[in-house]
Amino acid sequence: AVLAAVSLGQKDDAGTPARQPRSASPYPEDVPSTGHVREFELVAAPTVLPLLDGRSLEVWAYNGQVPGPTLRANQGDTVRVRFTNKLPQPTTIHWHGIRLPNGMDGVPGVTQPPIPPGDTFVYEFKLKDAGTFWFHPHLRGSEQVERGLFGVLIVEDREPRLFTRELVWVLDDWRLDTSGQVDARFNTRHDLAHDGRWGQVSTVNGVSQPEVALRPGERVRLRLVNVANGRVFAPSFDGLDASVIAVDALATDRPLPASRLELAPGNRVDLDFIVPEALSGQRLEVVDRFTRRPFLLATLAVSGEAVSPPAKTEAATMPAPHLATARALPPSETFRLNARQGGPFGIEWTINDEAFRHEGEHASAHHRVYRLPAYQWAKLRFVNESYRLHPMHVHGQFFRVVARDGTPVDEGHWRDTVLIGPRETVDVAMFPQDVGAWMLHCHIQEHAESGMMTLVDVR
Ligand code: C2O
Ligand code: CU
Repeated sequence: AVLAAVSLGQKDDAGTPARQPRSASPYPEDVPSTGHVREFELVAAPTVLPLLDGRSLEVWAYNGQVPGPTLRANQGDTVRVRFTNKLPQPTTIHWHGIRLPNGMDGVPGVTQPPIPPGDTFVYEFKLKDAGTFWFHPHLRGSEQVERGLFGVLIVEDREPRLFTRELVWVLDDWRLDTSGQVDARFNTRHDLAHDGRWGQVSTVNGVSQPEVALRPGERVRLRLVNVANGRVFAPSFDGLDASVIAVDALATDRPLPASRLELAPGNRVDLDFIVPEALSGQRLEVVDRFTRRPFLLATLAVSGEAVSPPAKTEAATMPAPHLATARALPPSETFRLNARQGGPFGIEWTINDEAFRHEGEHASAHHRVYRLPAYQWAKLRFVNESYRLHPMHVHGQFFRVVARDGTPVDEGHWRDTVLIGPRETVDVAMFPQDVGAWMLHCHIQEHAESGMMTLVDVR
């Protein structure tokens, strides 16, 4: 492992690991281009919306809606997003989970300068993977994401499956002040000392406890996205024979049982189920069971004439990679996660005793950078030395969990964000392909904002 300080724009080559022969990529690459360019326009601005239970809520929104617009394109398409910042603060857009050229990753001070109020930036990249992705600001995330800046990006499979219905559920929670508006006290000591900011109202697509009408016999693809600052969601779909067909965008190795679902901030889960005819005329409650106080998230109301369900075709899956070699590797890097007193908020979260400084255009200057060779398996170890939760996310890569507390595991799917429990050690195997400096950070916005971020430099 080579630690180095980089200054932006000039990479020094000293200490570059000797290149080893490329091994075969374990996940799709070189997806043929469709030749289509999908153009989108996004504007971030303050606005007032009837949200939650219909009250007027002052938010910051993409294109005047919360969640922002759902962008759709096909695998192999190129997307071109013309983004304008009409916020009172600089911002950027990060495309969570997308494997893209480093310069399009939306990290201020690392991959681009912050976009000042009034300015425009064009993001353009080809979509290599199909699945459920999302986008959000990567600057003052604890405030900007909380105020309503997030949206879903759906990349359609090249061979669409036979769903009669697709649902996208953006899961979020809101902390409101006594006037019912978004509490403007961000990065409080309490939030920093705990698992970030948890709100008192949970919503699905900006609505609290919505009722969703379904017809018996429908085959549903339900895409779940957790955009909350800190809350982990554990929605239970008891009563439905649901399978997990994708996690963090990529298809699972095989359909997996949907019992005990857990979505940490950043995570996505795609479910596949057929609405049983026996539920006709009934209502099914989707309850969140992550905390000791379960609460109602949404209700599925089954009514109407039965649809004859499409043949239960196999869900598309990804071939399982051979993880034995990766598992046997010594960790190329160990990331110890902890907190200490200090920093701009009074408490700062650290990775290997270092707090990332957000210093405008040159956040990464003089910061430690972990180097990883491209096209080789690497094993990364997260050691949670604290008693809090840390959903650790790596930009531009997917990885597999290979061990928890030293016990080998195979979850049967890839991820881009993994929840590390109190005092837990988690090993992940990664196969980096795209070169550049990629962020590795906790997706609890307050932890990231107070320092729990670093960079892996893939070359
Ligand atoms: Cu959705 Cu850097 O994260
Ligand atoms: Cu954290």
